[in-house]
Order: sequence, then C-alpha cells, then structure tokens
Amino acid sequence: MKRFIKKDGMHRRLEGWPLLFTILVTISILIGGIVEFLPLALVPSTVHKIESVEPFTPLELAGRDIYIREGCNNCHSQMVRPFRHELERYGEYGKPGETVYERPFLWGSKRTGPDLARVGGKYPHLWHVRHMEDPRSTSPNSIMPPYDWLLRKDATLSDLPTKLRTLKALGTPYSQDEIDNAVALAEAQAQEIADEVAAQGGPDGLADKEITALVAFLQRLGTDIQQAPDATTAEAASTKETEDALAAEGDAP
Ligand code: HEC
Repeated sequence: MKRFIKKDGMHRRLEGWPLLFTILVTISILIGGIVEFLPLALVPSTVHKIESVEPFTPLELAGRDIYIREGCNNCHSQMVRPFRHELERYGEYGKPGETVYERPFLWGSKRTGPDLARVGGKYPHLWHVRHMEDPRSTSPNSIMPPYDWLLRKDATLSDLPTKLRTLKALGTPYSQDEIDNAVALAEAQAQEIADEVAAQGGPDGLADKEITALVAFLQRLGTDIQQAPDATTAEAASTKETEDALAAEGDAP
C-alpha cells in the first residue's frame, strides 16, 4: 500500500483536496476549450462563399415560411450527403456555402420522404400543385399527407418587408429597393408561376394563394449552383468534386 501511494503520490494527494482539485480541473478544461475554439474564431469564415448563391426572393421566403409552418422538414431533409447512392439519386452533394442565407437552415436528417435539396426544376409547377393537393395523384401509394388548403388559402405577403429587413440586419444582402418593393416583387413572381400553372392545364387564379409561394420555394431549391456564371468551369469543378467524393468512398466509376 505504501509503495502504491508513493507511485501515484502527487495525484493522489491532489484528489484529497477537493476544492483545489476542482479549480485545477476547471483550468485544464478551459485551456482545452480555448485551444479548440481559437482557430475557429480566428479564421474569417469556415464557409466558402459560392458566387452564384443568391438570397431567396420575397415570394420564395414566404413559401419557405409555409414549408416550416407545415412541418415539411419533419419528413424531408435538404442535404445531399457525399455518398455514391445519394449522388446518383439526388445529384450534387450539399455544400455549406449553398445555405448561407438560410435562417434557420433546414438540412435535417429525418427522411420519411426524399431529400429535397435538389428538387428545384425537377418537376413542372403543375406537378407540385397536384402533388400538394393530393400526393397520390402524382405518386401512387404516397404516404405524404395532402395539403389541399394551400390551394385555397391566401398567402400573407404584407409582412415581407419586415422579414427582409430582419434578414438584412442578420447579414443577408437585400437592397433597400428590394425591401421597399418586396410585396410587389412577390406578387409579380406569383403571377408568373400562376400563369404557367394555368398554361400547363392546371387551375386558374392561384396567384395569391399559399401554394404559389410554396412552389416558388421548392423550385428554387438546389438551383443556385446550377446557374454558376461560368457554367463550364463550375460544372467541371463540381464534376471533379463529385468524382473525388466517389473516389474517397473507394468505388469511383
Ligand atoms: C409524413 C411525411 C411527409 C410530410 C409531412 C411531407 N412529405 Fe413530402 N413526401 C413524403 C413522401 C413519403 C414522399 C414520396 C412520395 C411522393 O412523391 O409523394 C414525398 C415527396 C415529396 C416531394 C417530391 C420529391 C421528389 O423528388 O419526387 C415533394 C416536392 C414534397 N414531398 C414536398 C413536401 C412539402 C412541401 C411538404 C410540406 C407542405 C411535405 N412534402 C410534407 C412524405 C412527407
């Protein structure tokens, strides 16, 4: 016993002084914490900016709030992971830079339904209208609930200037012009979508309904990186990144 105490002498003695021991433990945890935190705090940004990523339009923002209100994110994630099966099913994997204007972000991990990060442009507007009204009309056996009231309920656009102003205060680069004209901008985009739905043989007069805002939001998802200004370089870079991701997984084509 005596030899044992001698071997662990210092530590054993410290353990016998609870107050001093607590203070020393706190100091070492603080040092560890600072060492982990400092590098992150010192770099300007850990998220690479993607030039083609733009803030949501006012109407898309209204649609996004409907998406959150209806809890769509309880069944749908918005983040493609860098695995081969995900890339083949959904396309390009999600980059942090794509969601810099998302407050709150909707990456999620629960997938009762498919990931929606790249759903923009996958279907015509009318498909979304029909799918929301009755999911089984477009996707037989779907277990997604219907959201038919979105086709009847008027969208609230009057609070858009306040929403844009708040986001601007948090760093989203909306111009004063956009903030002042948010409602008119939203109405114009809604009219365009509603006209297209009608032209595709869908119901008339959806311009001021919630469904139109939601469709605007869904059709935007994942499209920013497809519209990179220098399409060829961006495409080459993204194909290269995809190949790298596949190679990292050990089964490149
Ligand atoms: C109970 C879970 C659940 C909820 C809640 C839910 N969905 Fe779905 N969603 C699904 C399932 C399952 C599918 C796949 C079958 C289908 O296409 O309907 C799906 C499919 C979709 C698709 C088609 C995706 C694709 O790539 O084909 C879209 C778009 C969509 N949902 C949007 C929404 C929106 C918007 C909301 C909220 C208003 C919502 N979902 C709420 C389960 C859900």
